[in-house]
Amino acid sequence: MRIRKTFVAVVLAFGVTGAAQAAEDLKIGMVLPMSGPFASYGEQILNGARLYLEQHDNKLGDRKVELIVKDDTGVAPAVSRRAAQELINRDKVEVLAGFGLTPAAFSVGPLATQAKMPMVVMNAATSSVTEKSPYIVRTSMALPQITAPIATWAVKNGIKRVYTLVADYGPGHDAEKQFIESFTEAGGEIVGQVRTPVGNPDFAPFLQRIKDSKPDAVFLFVPAGEQGVSFLKGYQERGLADEGIKLISTGDLTDEDVLDAMSAAEGVMTSFHYSEAHDSELNKQYVESYYKAYPGKRPNFMSVAGYDGMKLIDEVLKKTGGDASGDAFITAAKGLSWESPRGPVTIDPDTRDIVQDIYVREVKMVDGKLQNVEFDRLPQFKDPVKAKN
Ligand code: PHB
Repeated sequence: MRIRKTFVAVVLAFGVTGAAQAAEDLKIGMVLPMSGPFASYGEQILNGARLYLEQHDNKLGDRKVELIVKDDTGVAPAVSRRAAQELINRDKVEVLAGFGLTPAAFSVGPLATQAKMPMVVMNAATSSVTEKSPYIVRTSMALPQITAPIATWAVKNGIKRVYTLVADYGPGHDAEKQFIESFTEAGGEIVGQVRTPVGNPDFAPFLQRIKDSKPDAVFLFVPAGEQGVSFLKGYQERGLADEGIKLISTGDLTDEDVLDAMSAAEGVMTSFHYSEAHDSELNKQYVESYYKAYPGKRPNFMSVAGYDGMKLIDEVLKKTGGDASGDAFITAAKGLSWESPRGPVTIDPDTRDIVQDIYVREVKMVDGKLQNVEFDRLPQFKDPVKAKN
């Protein structure tokens, strides 16, 4: 009798858990800017995430998926935090994802730690984002990782004196520090530095100052989008291009989402991890299915980070048998490798950050369309700040 009772209890326990897990949808809570000046970040990231789900029968690791999206409006850390809190407490999500800007990721990191919940960062790119919680894993990039290659390329290509202009917050500070370090180490000289407000800066006074100091080039980091368009317009109108002052940047500037609005971008040199023109079979398929799903919208690096974020969750759940709890998830995520539309990627087991090829590119007209044409590659390049530690 006793034996039978135990047997029944065990069957019930396992039976119920197993059935519940198989039947239960995986709720993923996405915190994204869906309105305001950075709304295109949310759109691109979601487009990529939804495309992956569409291609995989709306399942990740055999579990049906429900995406719950909350708009955090951009640079508004208190709003991001409240959104994440609601997703955890009210919507009962198992995974947090998204995070367009660094302040959002910084403010939500401690909540992920408290809830022991995986947090998949799909854009926010300040190097230290991954240090804000042991449950964070990143599928986008780190600013120092995408900055160092253009600094060394510049010196090798005769650019000796540079003026830096960066947005005055985490990613801008990272870009400035890494650029100066890599550029001066290679023998270059910094002739001036300026930091501009994160929201809606007027570049005119800075452009004049830069022009007067006659550098070989300006190095620029501003968050992807309209700011880059307005900087480039001013750079053209104030005659910096005519003076022969070159423009070098991370690829955030010449992001495909705004590239069509940048007629002056031809010839701009950048380093970055994704280009719509990346020459691989997988990327061709990605670009084609993206245009089919979202006519008139160009796929960019944020869409790929959203797509890869879903791929990461898919691979993790395949390894854990559907278990998305924080510790199991992160253990499975460490060391994962796959082919992304950007090229081969790996989640660094020590840092939970992404290791990927970084390309040096030039903006060129290709078949009547401006593209970032890759011509040099640093294979499997780690965030140099973390590689040092
Ligand atoms: C960020 O806030 O971390 C961020 C935003 C836009 C970018 C890169 C980084 O293009």
